[in-house]
Amino acid sequence: MSALWVGTSWKMTKTLAEARSWAEGLHDHLAGALPTGVQPFVIPSFTATTTVAGILGEDSPALLGVQNAHWEDAGAWTGEVSVPQAKDAGARIVEIGHSERREHFGETVETTRLKVAAALRHGLTPLLCIGESAEVKKAGGSAEFILRQARGALAGLSDQELSCVVVAYEPIWAIGEKGRPATVEELVEPFAALGAEYSGRVAGLLYGGSVNLDNAADLLGIEHVTGLFVGRTAWQLEGYLELLQIAAAHAGSGQVGG
Ligand code: 13P
Repeated sequence: MSALWVGTSWKMTKTLAEARSWAEGLHDHLAGALPTGVQPFVIPSFTATTTVAGILGEDSPALLGVQNAHWEDAGAWTGEVSVPQAKDAGARIVEIGHSERREHFGETVETTRLKVAAALRHGLTPLLCIGESAEVKKAGGSAEFILRQARGALAGLSDQELSCVVVAYEPIWAIGEKGRPATVEELVEPFAALGAEYSGRVAGLLYGGSVNLDNAADLLGIEHVTGLFVGRTAWQLEGYLELLQIAAAHAGSGQVGG
C-alpha cells in the first residue's frame, strides 16, 4: 500500500516570519516522529519557497510544492515562474489547475495539459486539481465534468508518466469560506468515476475542500481516496499535525481506499 498524501496549499497567506514558524514546527515534528504511511507536502506562496526549502532541508520527508508554474522553461512571460525555476528553488510538486486559477486567471484544460507536461519533463510531480461548480453538480454532471478536466490535462501521457501524477478532486462548492463541507455520500460517485479510470494508475487520488479535523477520517475512508489536500485547517501548524495523525491512524488501520 502506498502512503496517504496529506498536504496543504497556503494560497495567498503568510508572511515570511509566519512561513518560517510553520516550517520550523513541521521540521521539528518530523525529526521526532515521522508518521508512518503518510506522505506530507506543503505548498507555500512563491515568496516563501526558498525559506521553507531551507528549513525543511533536501532530505525532508515532506515534499515542497509551488502553486503554479508556466509551461515554458524560460522567456518573456512577465509575472510567471517556470518549472525549472521552481525546481531550482527546491520544489518537487507543481500544483496545476486549482479552481481559483481557472476562475480568476484563465487556466484552461489546454494550459493544464501543457503545465502537466512541463512538470513531468523536469521530473516534478504534477498535482492536478479538478472540480465542478455547484451548477454542474445540481444538473447531475459532476462525474462527466471532472473526467473531462482530467482526461484533457492528462491526454497523451504514457502509463509511466501517468504514474507520476497526483490528482486532487476539489469540488468548487466545497472550497473555502463560501464552501460547505461535502458529505461522504456526495463524494462516492465522483470518486467511483475517477477511480474506475485512474485508481492504481496515478500516484494519488486526493480529496480537497473544507477538510477539517472532524471529517478527515471519514473522507479517507471513501473508496479510491488516497489523500487529502487542505487549505484553512492546515494553515495553523497544529491543525496540519493533527491531520497527519489522523491519516497515520487511518493508514495503520489498513482501511485505505486504494
Ligand atoms: P479549504 O480546505 O480551505 O476549503 O481549501 C481547499 C483548497 O482549495 C486546497 O487547495
